[in-house]
Amino acid sequence: PLDYEKNKVALLLESAEYNISHGDRLSPGDKKRIARDIASTDPECKWTESALAEKLGVIQQTVNTWISDIRARQKASRNTIIIRLSRLGWSQEMIAEAVGLSRNRASEIVGNTNFSEIDTLLSQGHDMDYIARHYHMDLALTWAIRLQGKTDQEKFKELGWGLRTWDQWNFNECDERFGDDWPGRIPAQLVGHTLFYFTKPGDVTLDPMAGGGVASDVCMLFERKCQSFDIATRDNRPEIQYHHWESRDGGWPIAKKPDLIFFDPPYFSKKEKEYEKKANENTPSISSYTKEEYERFLEGFFLLAHKKSKETTRMAFLNADWRNFESTPASKEKPDKSITTFDYHRLLSKAGWKVTHRIECPLSSERLSGNQVQRMQDKRILGTVGRTLLIARRS
Ligand SMILES: C[S@@+](CC[C@H](N)C(=O)[O-])C[C@H]1O[C@@H](n2cnc3c(N)ncnc32)[C@H](O)[C@@H]1O
Repeated sequence: PLDYEKNKVALLLESAEYNISHGDRLSPGDKKRIARDIASTDPECKWTESALAEKLGVIQQTVNTWISDIRARQKASRNTIIIRLSRLGWSQEMIAEAVGLSRNRASEIVGNTNFSEIDTLLSQGHDMDYIARHYHMDLALTWAIRLQGKTDQEKFKELGWGLRTWDQWNFNECDERFGDDWPGRIPAQLVGHTLFYFTKPGDVTLDPMAGGGVASDVCMLFERKCQSFDIATRDNRPEIQYHHWESRDGGWPIAKKPDLIFFDPPYFSKKEKEYEKKANENTPSISSYTKEEYERFLEGFFLLAHKKSKETTRMAFLNADWRNFESTPASKEKPDKSITTFDYHRLLSKAGWKVTHRIECPLSSERLSGNQVQRMQDKRILGTVGRTLLIARRS
């Protein structure tokens, strides 16, 4: 049987062409709808205005007026992808391949796009959401362009992020402007501070489990390069490439040695359900692992990262303490029933990494209801909100 969805464009055009000379003639309104339907499902603009005009039996100018708004939006979003990838350090060759344009055309777009109007729009009192819409850009890229050339300290100020001077990074909420809504999303400020203290502009960050793309957005803001991977990829995040990390196979998807590895894996047994929906049978998220498998996976990753890094590479490893406290009073907890920052420290050290900093970034305790808290108090259960960022050097 004919796959209607797959052949929809061909069928639409074929019948439209017949209707130019046979049967019930298509009205201009019908033709316009067909042209717009086709244009909106053809972001790569394979159907030119003249080809559509010929099939629909109208002049090219007419097709232009019917679909010019759709094409303008598509062009803007393609240009946004090109500029985003270029700011994150992708080579022209990789960008050209990702968007299906020639290298020259892609580099022309990067070189010729002009955002000088941003300051004028700001001085006229427009906000960043308005400016992003004006350029058909996402908010993170719009901010990155606005902040370009400023010092890191100035950027913190303009973003409204108080710069933390001490090693307790308590961020109550995620900054909605950066990264997508994603299970286990972390506050953009946490990545911002890591970049501030442990990298400099132009450095390359590797985000092996990128999730909602917070790290790449923040790298753009602070003019760091970023290579992002995940088992879950999607259209609005062209910078996140597919890679399934397995400690066994030793695959390492990048040639350039990173300056920083920002490693934020799913925390043990916490997010199983949400991640499993995004992963699938063949590529299970590590959140479905047992404690032993989880530790083995981390150790394998740390070893591999150590082998593939350079002398000066830093590892920033974020993870939460996990204790099986839900039904166990504090005095009855067993050491082998938990994974905490001490275990992560041990695994990093075993793989050759030297931990230099332990930065506390506690989780909010508000995720538990009043009833749950009452039950814990009745049973003398000691909860944990411990989440720690361990910074390690390769040597
Ligand atoms: C804690 S989330 C990252 C969140 C991200 N930092 C953010 O703020 O949005 C962990 C990610 O690891 C991915 N993941 C889990 N197991 C993986 C594997 N074996 N290989 C690649 N990605 C994996 C999940 O799909 C998930 O998006």
